[in-house]
Amino acid sequence: MTSNLLNRRQAIKNGLLVAGGTFASFASLDLCQPNMLMGQDIEIAPKLIRTEKGPFYPKGEIPADRDLTSDPKKTGTADGKVLYLFGRILGPDCKPINKARVEIWQADSNGKYNHPGDSSDKKLDPNFGYFGHVITGSNGLYLFKTIVPASYSFRDLQRAPHIHIGVVNREVGNASTEVYFAGKEDDRIREKDRVFQSRKNPKRLIVPKQDPDDFVSLGVKFDGNSVCCHYDLAFVKKKKK
Ligand SMILES: [Fe+2]
Repeated sequence: MTSNLLNRRQAIKNGLLVAGGTFASFASLDLCQPNMLMGQDIEIAPKLIRTEKGPFYPKGEIPADRDLTSDPKKTGTADGKVLYLFGRILGPDCKPINKARVEIWQADSNGKYNHPGDSSDKKLDPNFGYFGHVITGSNGLYLFKTIVPASYSFRDLQRAPHIHIGVVNREVGNASTEVYFAGKEDDRIREKDRVFQSRKNPKRLIVPKQDPDDFVSLGVKFDGNSVCCHYDLAFVKKKKK
């Protein structure tokens, strides 16, 4: 059985896929009002921040896996609050980008990365996936089921909770960015997070954790007691000077 098939079965099991194999509708989301814009050949647009991949980009293959919270070969589930991270990958013309590879990598609910460079003595969560990728369809949509990461320290840096996102597409280029989460406790940590503070217009990287009831039109069977983050990403062209 291929891993893709496994992932698809797992996704169906977890209600991530609906009839037709994707979201029922994204009509409730305004097209071309992305949370941020990004791209390889870009200028910084009103809601754009592009960041480097950071020290914990996975060293090995990032598997095709949209559900990092469980493994069909295991019975347990990942610790932490379930988070659905989803949105669209848009091109410079605001049209959805087909066949974009969207990768995420992140710390677990204990602030640990599954990476040899993470020398903290925290234990890995055996049921958490830590990283995965999906390929968008013609609607440009991506969706991951994951968990809300914890903050962590790296060398002398205090890092606020965030998820790294990479997008690879032959047509419009490659880019990586991060998503942070709204909240007073996260704000408090962000005040000391020098990496976050070094980003240009960093507040544009922050999105609210919303109630799944706000997204019923998507047709996704969300887990109870989970949260949703809607995060559209758009590539834009540089303006000619
Ligand atoms: Fe990180």
